[in-house]
Amino acid sequence: MEQQQTPSAVEQAMLAEFERRIAAGETVEPKDWMPERYRKQLVRMMSQHAHSEVVGMLPEGNWITRAPSLRRKLGLLAKVQDEAGHGLYIYCGTETLGVGRDELLDQLLSGKAKYSSIFNYPTLTWADIGAIGWLVDGAAIVNQTMLAKASYGPYARAMVRICKEENFHKKQGFEIMTVLAGGTPAQKAMAQDALDRWWWPSLMMFGPSDKDSPNSAELTKWGVKRKGNDELRQRFVNQTVAQAQAIGLTIPDPELTLDEATGDWKFGQIDWDEFHRVISGDGPCNRERLAARRKAHDDGAWVRAAAEAHAAKQDGQGGAARVA
Ligand code: ACO
Repeated sequence: MEQQQTPSAVEQAMLAEFERRIAAGETVEPKDWMPERYRKQLVRMMSQHAHSEVVGMLPEGNWITRAPSLRRKLGLLAKVQDEAGHGLYIYCGTETLGVGRDELLDQLLSGKAKYSSIFNYPTLTWADIGAIGWLVDGAAIVNQTMLAKASYGPYARAMVRICKEENFHKKQGFEIMTVLAGGTPAQKAMAQDALDRWWWPSLMMFGPSDKDSPNSAELTKWGVKRKGNDELRQRFVNQTVAQAQAIGLTIPDPELTLDEATGDWKFGQIDWDEFHRVISGDGPCNRERLAARRKAHDDGAWVRAAAEAHAAKQDGQGGAARVA
């Protein structure tokens, strides 16, 4: 009995010290003691985030060969490549928590892992590439600027670099939308149509309303989340309405009204049924996205085998290195 109580008391003291450090604004590093639940929450959130970056290459990659000029093609290629890098930084971050990339990829490819709902929508026209850069990367910046202050050091530091790159992505997207919105009537209509289709899914990126968000309380207590889902969504709406107005496009929400007292743009009801359908695997492109990822993984088998063989040759011991 005595022996069972002692570790618990020690653990309680460690937890108290951990929470004191978080409250004091200190950063948690990989070798520091952390509650198992904190580690699990980070792995959950960071792996979903890494998967989102990687799956997020698919809707845009679809347009690389069809970009309307060499300049647009170069910009899009660079952006899609950046997203792969973002995935890599974050998978490396999860490795510092003791979970390998191969395990996480298995979870993605088996359909067990979540990734952002937004990447389950199709890119039907070139304007969708503008809308993704403007809205999707714009929403990601709002969310991830906060995560750059998260309590876990490797995640927060990855976010600093990612946000810098996302800023370029947002600017290239907004520039595409600006050119289309100021172009021929057909081009303007194409830009408006893309905004109409991407607006509501972009608002869903921030996750359920705080009252329906099971993870928020714990993540906020431990300084991973610095702001709630609703506050960040509102911040995104406020900044994006002004941008849409500046280029003469209309946000597809008849209930959108400015609250003079708070300065917030009040928006209509989000279709949470659609959100839950998409995150449970039944969105417009979920199956297509997973099939594309599985094919890419299979096609890359020879690269992994070659890297393993090379590593084995280097260490001369029959393959100690593991390449995910
Ligand atoms: N898409 C898919 N799943 C979502 C989404 C979404 N847009 N929003 C919430 N969820 C899931 C959560 O992962 C959680 O599921 P789980 O418990 O099975 O893991 C469930 O819905 C309930 O949501 P919350 O309790 O609010 O989850 P959480 O506190 O983790 O907040 C959020 C969700 C805001 C997305 C948070 O995880 C986050 O900030 N993640 C990092 C940013 C990120 O992943 N961005 C990806 C898109 S950006 C890009 O790639 C360009």
